[in-house]
Amino acid sequence: MTRSTSFAAMEQAALSKGTDTSRLRELFTRETLETPLLVLSRSDIGLNYDALKKALPRVSIHYAVKPNNHQVFIDEVYRRGGNFDVCSAGEIKQVMQTGINPATLVHSHPVKSIAEFDFAVGQGVETFVVDNPEEIKKFARYKDKRLKVLVRFRISTNSRAVVNLQYKFGCSVDEVLPLARLIRQTGHDFYGLCFHIGSQCVFGDNYVKAIKAAHDLIHDLDLDGFDTRLLDIGGGFPVEYVVPIPSIDSFCAPIRTALDKHIRPGIRIISEPGRFIAASPVTLVCSVIGRSVRDGKIWYYLDDGLYSTFSGILYDHCQYPVINNRDGEEHLSVLAGPTCDSFDVMYDGLMIPVHEVGDRIIFPLTGAYCAVSGSNFNALKRPNYEIVA
Ligand SMILES: Cc1ncc(COP(=O)(O)O)c(C=O)c1O
Repeated sequence: MTRSTSFAAMEQAALSKGTDTSRLRELFTRETLETPLLVLSRSDIGLNYDALKKALPRVSIHYAVKPNNHQVFIDEVYRRGGNFDVCSAGEIKQVMQTGINPATLVHSHPVKSIAEFDFAVGQGVETFVVDNPEEIKKFARYKDKRLKVLVRFRISTNSRAVVNLQYKFGCSVDEVLPLARLIRQTGHDFYGLCFHIGSQCVFGDNYVKAIKAAHDLIHDLDLDGFDTRLLDIGGGFPVEYVVPIPSIDSFCAPIRTALDKHIRPGIRIISEPGRFIAASPVTLVCSVIGRSVRDGKIWYYLDDGLYSTFSGILYDHCQYPVINNRDGEEHLSVLAGPTCDSFDVMYDGLMIPVHEVGDRIIFPLTGAYCAVSGSNFNALKRPNYEIVA
C-alpha cells in the first residue's frame, strides 16, 4: 500500500532539517495555476551535475538527453562544461543549438538506421557505439573518415537495476576482441569500451564488476595491439523516489575506487547519466478533476495520467512520491488519469486524506522518462513547463 505525504508534515520536518519547502508551498497556494504543470528548476540541474561530478572526479559527464530533452537541461549542462550522449538525429539537432562541437558527442545507439548514421556523420559526430558485426559493416560507407568506435559489452550480475539495459544491447565479453578486429578491418578506429549496467541501478557492485571486466578486456586488447583510449561507464545512477537510497557520494565510492584500481590513468573515462540529472529538477502539479466512490475506495480523477507524464510508471517501472495538502483521516484511494481508458490508473490503494474537486496534488521527481514518453491520447492537453530559478 502506498502512502502519500502530507505537506504540513513536510513543513514541520523541514523546520528541524533546514530544508526549503517554499516552492511547494507556493505551488499549493498560488491563486491561479493552470494544471497539469511541470515546474522545472534550473538550479536543481546544476546541483545534480555538480554532485555527480564531485562523486566521480575522474569521470566526464555526457548527459544522456533521452530522459528529458527540454532545452533547459541541455543549456544548463553545456553551461557547466558538460557534454552529451545522443542517440538520434533529433537529439543531435537539439544539442547542436548550444554551439557544441559535434566531434565531442558520443552517439550511443548500438543499432542505427543508415539514414540516422549518415545524418550523424554528416553533422560531424565522430564517436559511435557498436555491439554486433552487422553494425560494423555500416562503417564501410564512410571511406573518407576515421570514426572512433566503442564496443558495448554486457556482464551478468546477481541483482539487476530497475530498468534492465543489458537485455537488448551489449555483446558478451568474449565477443569484444573479434568485434575490435572487425572494426580494424573497416579502417576505422577501435577507440574504447562502454557498458550500461541498467537504469536506476542501486547496486554499486554491478559497476565494480563491469569495471573489472573492462580492465581484463583492455589487457587482452593491449596484447592484440589495440590502443584503448576511452571507457564509458554508462548511466544508471539512482534517484531516491519512494525507497531510501545512499547519497550519490557514498553510492559512487566503490566505483571511484574501482576506476582508480583497474583503469590506468591514460584512459579517459566518461559517463552518460540521464535520470540522476533529470529526475529531481521537475515537479508535476495536478488537479483533481473528478471524484467517485467505487467498491469502498475513493477514486480521484486527475488531469494528468498514464498516457502523459505518468507514462514513466509503465515504461520506466517507476513510482513517484505523492504530496497532498489536506488534513484528516487517510482513506483507501485510487488516483486515475483523465482519459477514457480503464487502464489509466496510477495509484491503486493509496492512503490519502479526502480531497475535493479542484484540489492540487504534487508529484516531485517527475523529470526523467516521464513527459518524453507520454502521448496526447484522447487529444487531451499535455502539461506545459514553467521554468524557475
Ligand atoms: C546508452 C544509454 N546511455 C545512457 C542512458 C541513461 O541512463 P540513466 O538514465 O539510467 O542514467 C541510457 C538510458 O536508456 C542509455 O540507453
